[in-house]
Amino acid sequence: MKNVKAIIFDAYGTLFDVNSAAEKCKDKIGSKWEAFANFWRTTQLEYTWLRSLMERHKDFWQVTEDSLDKSMKAFNIDLSMKDELLNLYKVLSPYKEVPETLKNLKEKKFKLAILSNGTPSLLKELVNSNDLDNLFDDIFSIEEVGIYKPSSKVYDIPIKKYQIEKSEVAFLSANTWDVSGGGNYGYQSIWVNRNNNIFDNLDYEPKNQIKNLKDLLPKIN
Ligand code: LAC
Repeated sequence: MKNVKAIIFDAYGTLFDVNSAAEKCKDKIGSKWEAFANFWRTTQLEYTWLRSLMERHKDFWQVTEDSLDKSMKAFNIDLSMKDELLNLYKVLSPYKEVPETLKNLKEKKFKLAILSNGTPSLLKELVNSNDLDNLFDDIFSIEEVGIYKPSSKVYDIPIKKYQIEKSEVAFLSANTWDVSGGGNYGYQSIWVNRNNNIFDNLDYEPKNQIKNLKDLLPKIN
């Protein structure tokens, strides 16, 4: 990859494992924990898109709770578990290669940032609780523009702050629709394809695909 000035990461699903909250409760939830976690995530994302289209913004923490309520009903999960699941969502685990990869990238000359649907305080807690706080130059939240990804207003945030060209951003996401969103906007999007998934048909094919963040280092040097 050429002419990269900033490396920008999606947070949920890319740096942090969104299923890890339900996984930590799998003894109580039972074997349906993974289907439940996937349903919660899908509902949460649908609510972000629907709220953006309806122009009825609620922040990501409220959307996370609203989608959890529906998911717990759908999977018949005891409502007494709600607080535990929400608290675990605040301190999701990073994927295992993330801390070391970020430390290696930090030694190079790129700006390192997060660009996420999360609220500023949620993202701060997530990064702090995993000891990753001093590795980022910036943590950009969509709350700055009040609309969710993949609005171009969101992808504009770092461009305005850094005064760089869109193509000077390497944008990493494991969420295929976010890779397409960033790519259609003009970033060099990289798909973090951890689980051999199928890509979307949304007018963008990422030129770069990696299995996990470690694979980024040789591409960016
Ligand atoms: C985020 C969502 C897309 O972190 O996971 O922005």
